[in-house]
Amino acid sequence: MTAEVGVGVAGWGAAGRLMAAALGRSDRFRLAGIADRDPASRDAARRDAEVPAYQRVEDLVAAPGVDVLYVATPTAHHAEAIVAAAAAGVDVVCEKPAARTVAEAMFAVQTAADAGVQLLVGASHSYDAPVRALREVVECGRLGALTSVESSCHTDWHRRPRTSADLDATMGNGLVLRQGAHQFDVLRLVCGGAARSVSGLTFGGAGGAERGFAAHLRFADGIVASAYYHGGGGFDSRLTTWGVGELGTVELEPAPPLADFFALPGSAAAPPVTPTFGRTTATFDSGGAVVTATGLLVFDERGVDVVDVTDRPSGWDAVLVELADVLDGAAPVHDGAWAVATLEVCIAIHRSAATGAPVELRHQIALSHE
Ligand SMILES: NC(=O)c1ccc[n+]([C@@H]2O[C@H](COP(=O)([O-])OP(=O)(O)OC[C@H]3O[C@@H](n4cnc5c(N)ncnc54)[C@H](O)[C@@H]3O)[C@@H](O)[C@H]2O)c1
Repeated sequence: MTAEVGVGVAGWGAAGRLMAAALGRSDRFRLAGIADRDPASRDAARRDAEVPAYQRVEDLVAAPGVDVLYVATPTAHHAEAIVAAAAAGVDVVCEKPAARTVAEAMFAVQTAADAGVQLLVGASHSYDAPVRALREVVECGRLGALTSVESSCHTDWHRRPRTSADLDATMGNGLVLRQGAHQFDVLRLVCGGAARSVSGLTFGGAGGAERGFAAHLRFADGIVASAYYHGGGGFDSRLTTWGVGELGTVELEPAPPLADFFALPGSAAAPPVTPTFGRTTATFDSGGAVVTATGLLVFDERGVDVVDVTDRPSGWDAVLVELADVLDGAAPVHDGAWAVATLEVCIAIHRSAATGAPVELRHQIALSHE
């Protein structure tokens, strides 16, 4: 059966190619064309993906067979691409973060709503199957009330090649906006969505160039979430998740002496695995749960349950599942308003770090906010 819904990809870079790979695994969606302002990227797409390649997003959304636009241009260009899709009556999936500022994101979200097109934002790690499974543990109530969630992530984000624009928060970049857009999306999803206030610190730089950040968020019912991210490369969280990283593959195989402390658990635990983004741990009135590279460990007074969700979609595959559901009439989770709320948290970290004071949040929404 030919996949019926054509997706145009704006930006044939790292994210654009990851979405193209997910489209290749989908029964419902197919890659219908790309737009990239760089001629070499357009040539690569024509050669590697054998689809039409346009210079301008406006030409891609007007092309025959493009029903949905996936926006994977740099964040400074997200809003203009959403506006172009809305003008053409084309539904949109936009990469995170949604835009550079809350105002810019809200303008794009309103433009899409006024045009009557769907807008999802992702892939963030809150689409990943273990994170959704953790939310299900919260909702089913088997461990009592959720009390806290902690997310900790150590990467080499700053050791990878970066331009000055990549480290500029006013361009929608830097550690807090790029990686906080994952981490706060995860914490908001597990905690129910609507944070009330946030206190944040950044360290090793400022304004997007920071090497790390830490934050506490308060939610309703006294739920507290904490986030720690360090991108300086001093430690790598993947050592604690069997070498599994954000793409859901085994990316590190520790050698001695690290293998004595962080060994892969052997072939029994070899793939399938899910994407992992550091360590996420939740505490409840009567138990706890921790995200693993295959799902969850759920602790209660009887012992521990191992929850395997490797057969459920994560990442860009999960984005396409949510998109299919939305096109079939389901209410979205990761819509524009959801993404505005996560962006608001990221931007509030910088404000709180600059003033030393907590920031009250004004654009938060709960899950199931229809
Ligand atoms: N969800 C994730 O895990 C994830 C991973 C990587 C990137 N991202 C997000 O995806 C976006 C792109 O990041 P990337 O790392 O893929 O960037 P990239 O630099 O690898 O690719 C961006 C591409 O967009 C093209 N481009 C730039 N401006 C354009 C314009 N106005 N019109 C058409 N094409 C244009 C560039 O030529 C380039 O090919 C960012 O918003 C980033 O935050 C998300």
